[in-house]
Amino acid sequence: MKNSIFQEIRERVSICHPDRAAGRVKNISGLCMSIQGVESLLSIGDRLSVEARSGEKIQSEVVGFWEGHVRTMAFGALDGIGPGCEASLPLSGMPGAALSVNAGWLGRVVNPLGVPMDGKGALPAGGKRQDIKAAPPNAAERARLGERLTLGVRALDAFVTARKGQRLGLFAGSGVGKSSLLSMLVRGTACDVAVIALVGERGREVREFIEDDLGPEGLARSVVVVATSDMPPLMRRDAATSAMAIAEYFRDQGRSVLLLMDSVTRYCMALREIGLSAGEPPATRGYPPSVFAELPKLLERAGPGYAGQGMITALFTVLVEGDDHNEPVADAVRGILDGHVMLDRRIGEQGRYPAIDVSKSLSRAASGCLSARDAGLVKKARSIMARYERMADMIRLGAYKAGSEPETDEAIRLMPALTAFLTQGKQEPVDEGGHDVFTRLAMILGDVSE
Ligand SMILES: Nc1ncnc2c1ncn2[C@@H]1O[C@H](COP(=O)(O)OP(=O)(O)OP(=O)(O)O)[C@@H](O)[C@H]1O
Ligand SMILES: [Mg+2]
Repeated sequence: MKNSIFQEIRERVSICHPDRAAGRVKNISGLCMSIQGVESLLSIGDRLSVEARSGEKIQSEVVGFWEGHVRTMAFGALDGIGPGCEASLPLSGMPGAALSVNAGWLGRVVNPLGVPMDGKGALPAGGKRQDIKAAPPNAAERARLGERLTLGVRALDAFVTARKGQRLGLFAGSGVGKSSLLSMLVRGTACDVAVIALVGERGREVREFIEDDLGPEGLARSVVVVATSDMPPLMRRDAATSAMAIAEYFRDQGRSVLLLMDSVTRYCMALREIGLSAGEPPATRGYPPSVFAELPKLLERAGPGYAGQGMITALFTVLVEGDDHNEPVADAVRGILDGHVMLDRRIGEQGRYPAIDVSKSLSRAASGCLSARDAGLVKKARSIMARYERMADMIRLGAYKAGSEPETDEAIRLMPALTAFLTQGKQEPVDEGGHDVFTRLAMILGDVSE
């Protein structure tokens, strides 16, 4: 008995440090570690450093408390960590989730903890401390959406017209062309700074995206935050939140920022892994309730800042699992954002890229930035495409007799030109011939008032 008390005291004294508080790993189960000895000093979201048996230090974050233990998850692999390993936190200034961002981050590729991944050496020191879990600007005081923004994709500029500070979602099943469309957007969109978050996607695509899609010029005005699919869930979650914090830094400097996130579904999947590991009950499709509480907090941070600040125009890709557009993440994201672009597998299969289903896509802010003439052209083109869609089967089967309906005749006549308008190669610029999209649309529709 005495021995065990002395042993306990010896153990406790061995982890007394003048500058930090320390506890010990008690249990490890799945992705979670239970830590004892520092529970009264910690709260949810705080970070600790756990020393593996090899001496390597691994960051971890508090995700819950249970029966006197702190539950944490690590930002790295748990290999080499076992019961008794020391978990410590500094006594002065909590190691909160923040990044010190400065203009020297432009042109760099970093991981969600702000560690460079591009082999170009350390990031310039100093800068503004950006909380990666910052709250969105006060809704009643933030600026309104800005002027029309050219995205560089004809189908979107005409039918899903966006404004500065708008948040759009690109929805599609796997392999329909979300990432390819995003790469067209990063090249075509007018902005001062681009922040790109590659969240939980393929490692192979990272270099392709940086070298082929961004290129040296694009990279020079961008910051890329990467957490590939093999990284722990906390890294994948923070790829999204850190990218948002970096975008907020540039927004506060008055810049017009383009934030691209591929994909917000992987962010939700990371939240699901964290929630379930922390002991939350699974609900719809295994997503615990906290996912749907966190999601709006992230998405609402994009958009306009306060008057005098810049704006974050954001494009989020959403992987629609099993092509079911009512699956919970797609449904929740669609409800929060200011517009959605639906990609359709059947359109891609017909060889029309980008495979945007114009009839199901919409920009909730378009009406505020289109002239009456442009809005009229869009309405007319939409109705022609809808009529063709309705009659397509009959036309294909030869059951439609030319001349029986003037509107259908017009749709059959104009559809090839409209399809050509909607088709655009990945490297093809939008302004071929120097016409803006609405002038081109007017020419197709034979709108002589032009
Ligand atoms: N604009 C385009 N032009 C030609 N082909 C395209 C285009 N967009 C997509 N594709 C084709 O679709 C394939 C898948 O595209 P992409 O990787 O962008 O899809 P994704 O929706 O991001 O897929 P995942 O959900 O698996 O990440 C490409 O490899 C290419 O063959
Ligand atoms: Mg993709």
